[in-house]
Amino acid sequence: SKVNYHVSALLLSTLPTADTTSPPAAPFNHRIVSARPSQIRNFYTINWQEVLGGGRFGQVHKCVENSSGLTLAAKIIKARSQKEKEVVKNEIQVMNNLDHANLIQLYAAYESRNDIILVLEYVGGGELFDRIIDENYTLMELDAVVFIRQICEGLQHMHKMSVLHLDLKPENILCVSRVTNKIKIIDFGLARIYKPREKLKVNFGTPEFLAPEVINYDYVSFNTDMWSLGVITYMLLSGLCPFLGDDDNQTLNNILACQWNFEEQEFIDTSEEAKDFISRLLLVNRSWRMGACEALNHPWLSDAVLHHPSINCETGKKFTEK
Ligand SMILES: *[C@@H]1O[C@H](CO)[C@@H](O)[C@H](O)[C@H]1NC(C)=O
Ligand SMILES: *[C@@H]1O[C@H](CO)[C@@H](O)[C@H](O)[C@H]1NC(C)=O
Ligand SMILES: *[C@@H]1O[C@H](CO)[C@@H](O)[C@H](O)[C@H]1NC(C)=O
Ligand SMILES: *[C@@H]1O[C@H](CO)[C@@H](O)[C@H](O)[C@H]1NC(C)=O
Repeated sequence: SKVNYHVSALLLSTLPTADTTSPPAAPFNHRIVSARPSQIRNFYTINWQEVLGGGRFGQVHKCVENSSGLTLAAKIIKARSQKEKEVVKNEIQVMNNLDHANLIQLYAAYESRNDIILVLEYVGGGELFDRIIDENYTLMELDAVVFIRQICEGLQHMHKMSVLHLDLKPENILCVSRVTNKIKIIDFGLARIYKPREKLKVNFGTPEFLAPEVINYDYVSFNTDMWSLGVITYMLLSGLCPFLGDDDNQTLNNILACQWNFEEQEFIDTSEEAKDFISRLLLVNRSWRMGACEALNHPWLSDAVLHHPSINCETGKKFTEK
């Protein structure tokens, strides 16, 4: 029953796997955005035929800004009540704090009676999720390292800016193109500024990525995102979901019992470093999990092949800067 995202290893990856440089930045400088009460179609041409993605919020369409010719993405979020609008404005507020190449950038926002539209950096390579299930890509362990490093770097920046993502899953990680391993984290719809001892009630759909403290309606913190990173790493290396049960109830019970293992044959060739990395994230007690900086320093992400210097997690300085 764990096998829901099966990866068949038929073709060799032709991706330039060890290229660990940052993805291209957004084609505009970081902006502080607030929702403007004007009609988006006075400024942009939205391609209603081209749906880039969707979710509980609504749909994302490709669009072009008339004045600049810039290709962007319009995320149309249904929000009628004042309360619904406040939730979207929180998303805008959170994104205003985040200026990093691994985090999707916000360009503008438009508010009308029934919705708020976020105009975002356009990212065209599809979901990481599709790579996991696409039989035409064989994800090598080094591919996973490259993906996970970038997610970690995005998380490190978010956490430095006191932002929790709280909805990290493969669907919310976009590839920059079909031919590179560059990624950007998207969807800050559940993200929030960290407040110590804030409890969080999440209205969740798929439970596979939820941390135990979220299910338990307990305090959430930066390491709540690190649990999700552990789940994503497990999936990238195996195509399997670590906690998936026969139904949602069983999945939730597996998470609360922290019941997972490397027994599936998909892990036969997985390195000990990779297993150790996951084992230091999928821990019930969030204070025992690695933080983003520690994860970047873990041997799996900073080994000799990749030549990543380790970072002093207190000062942020690289240890090679002697
Ligand atoms: C924007 O450009 C499109 C395509 O060129 C055009 O059809 C549309 O009328 C323009 N909209 C505005 C408000 O200028
Ligand atoms: C894999 O490649 C084949 C041949 O190029 C293509 O027909 C098929 O649609 C691809 N599969 C996916 C999931 O994209
Ligand atoms: C869910 O799991 C709990 C604990 O194992 C069990 O007591 C409960 O009956 C289950 N509920 C459903 C709807 O299966
Ligand atoms: C989690 O670990 C911390 C540090 O070791 C400890 O103080 C705390 O009691 C633990 N929490 C639980 C619920 O076990």
